[in-house]
Amino acid sequence: MNRIGIIGAMDIEVDALKEQMTGVTRVNKASMEFYQGKLNGKDVVVVRSGIGKVNAAVCTQILADVFEVEAVINTGIAGSLRNEINIGDIVVSTDALQHDMDAVEFGYPKGQIPGMKVFSFVANAALRETAVRVCQKVNPDIQVFEGRIVSGDQFVARAEVKNEIIKEFAGYCTEMEGASIAQAAYLNGIPFVVVRAISDKADNSATMDYPTFERQAAQHCVNLVGEMLREL
Ligand code: ADE
Repeated sequence: MNRIGIIGAMDIEVDALKEQMTGVTRVNKASMEFYQGKLNGKDVVVVRSGIGKVNAAVCTQILADVFEVEAVINTGIAGSLRNEINIGDIVVSTDALQHDMDAVEFGYPKGQIPGMKVFSFVANAALRETAVRVCQKVNPDIQVFEGRIVSGDQFVARAEVKNEIIKEFAGYCTEMEGASIAQAAYLNGIPFVVVRAISDKADNSATMDYPTFERQAAQHCVNLVGEMLREL
């Protein structure tokens, strides 16, 4: 893979990566700053997309059209949807879908985008495998899981909402961008993976835990993505 796009929604998810880059050129598009340069020997474009599915999809399309990236990695934090996935642990996407896509009235299952051939967007096997392998190397004190990542324009912080999402989609964690990046990557035929560290349990404790653990969780992803680049 020659040029890899790396998207995080928030500064905390990408700043440490930008600091490690060399030969940086900055390009501003759609109110986003794209940092093009080298990171651990690879050509990369690192960008903060802003929060939510629309920002993330616009960002991915620019990475495809303007920077012609050959792979996209989405890194950041997420709320856990499984008891055994603890704060700080990492989830690597098997696939991603939008839990707030709802055309049920027209006979589609919840999450299905009308007119699309797939229910969920499947992550690239080589990117997944590399992410899991290097995670065990650089973050030996945490667990790494592979599973479905679900996204919606919603910070999930109520047990009822969390349980509904679990029942419907059997996701491993929930966040607000991954599946829209996956969809945009799919439409452009670009391999992707979503890598998320857990900052909270997406329940009534989420708003308390999130500010406490977001930095530590984000650092786990930074460690992982930096090392992935060495190995890809
Ligand atoms: N990102 C981190 N925690 C989250 C949550 N509980 N819901 C949605 N996005 C998140």
